[in-house]
Amino acid sequence: MAGLVTEWVNVTGDISIIARESGEVWFHTGSGTKDHVDPFATPMTGVSAAGSTVGLLDGAINLGFAVIEKRLARPDLTLAGYIVALVGAYHTSVDTPRNLRRAASRFNELARPEVAAYLEERAREETGHDRLALKDLRALGVPGERLVANFIPEGIKPLCKRFDDLCVEDYPIGCIGYSYCLERIAALKQETDIEKVQALCPDGVDATRFLRSHSSLGSEATHVEETIEFVASLPANDRIRVVQETYESALILAEGYNHELLKSEAEMLEELEQALGEALPYRHTSYPLHGEKRRARPVA
Ligand SMILES: [Fe+2]
Ligand SMILES: [Fe+2]
Repeated sequence: MAGLVTEWVNVTGDISIIARESGEVWFHTGSGTKDHVDPFATPMTGVSAAGSTVGLLDGAINLGFAVIEKRLARPDLTLAGYIVALVGAYHTSVDTPRNLRRAASRFNELARPEVAAYLEERAREETGHDRLALKDLRALGVPGERLVANFIPEGIKPLCKRFDDLCVEDYPIGCIGYSYCLERIAALKQETDIEKVQALCPDGVDATRFLRSHSSLGSEATHVEETIEFVASLPANDRIRVVQETYESALILAEGYNHELLKSEAEMLEELEQALGEALPYRHTSYPLHGEKRRARPVA
């Protein structure tokens, strides 16, 4: 019987992720192996398999989120929080096609047409996603263009900067790790998550276009599958770099999201209304953005 493929990547000073084709994943620390040669101390050079590649990628996300596990904010969903999330969604989408095309043209220069083709395809698929977030804001009666022009949530800024920086590197393979991290997390969202948001929205208003498309119901699930397949097709050095960047992006994303989620609704409203220069709609209607009752309306 042919041996199962094993892949490994060192992601931090002393932690490596080890993944087998069968789906098993370990976090390995190199310490305490003085008497033995640590087989995972040298970078992997071998072949890949989809099963081990996904283990490395998802292991990197889990490890990144483990850093904030004890501080993880779990706020009630509010309309103000959702509006901030839509602004964040706009900013993490608006430059994606341009950035991916920039990285693609670098890979063409590097005589790596297969990577360039993959990134160009992704750029096409991601085009217009910023418009979905703007449409959702508009559906909620919020002047989206003005809001996004005046406001980038603090926790989202480092994420946008990371992607900008990755796409202009001399060897911009890390941008695939960043994209995987964001898309994998989006693809965890289920129909019930969308229904909860829908329950917050005014009757007859659909403000879940972005969310739906970036969930298990939309294109994200396919994007994740395609990325795993593509990463598994790359040489070992590239796979290592992609997994390392998936981990770095997960760290930045976890800290950033948590920073936003830890804000009180009053702080969020303050930021939103300052950026808009006016009160948000629904202030004095049945959608209790202000006042004592700030919890989400129960579903139906
Ligand atoms: Fe997207
Ligand atoms: Fe996507």
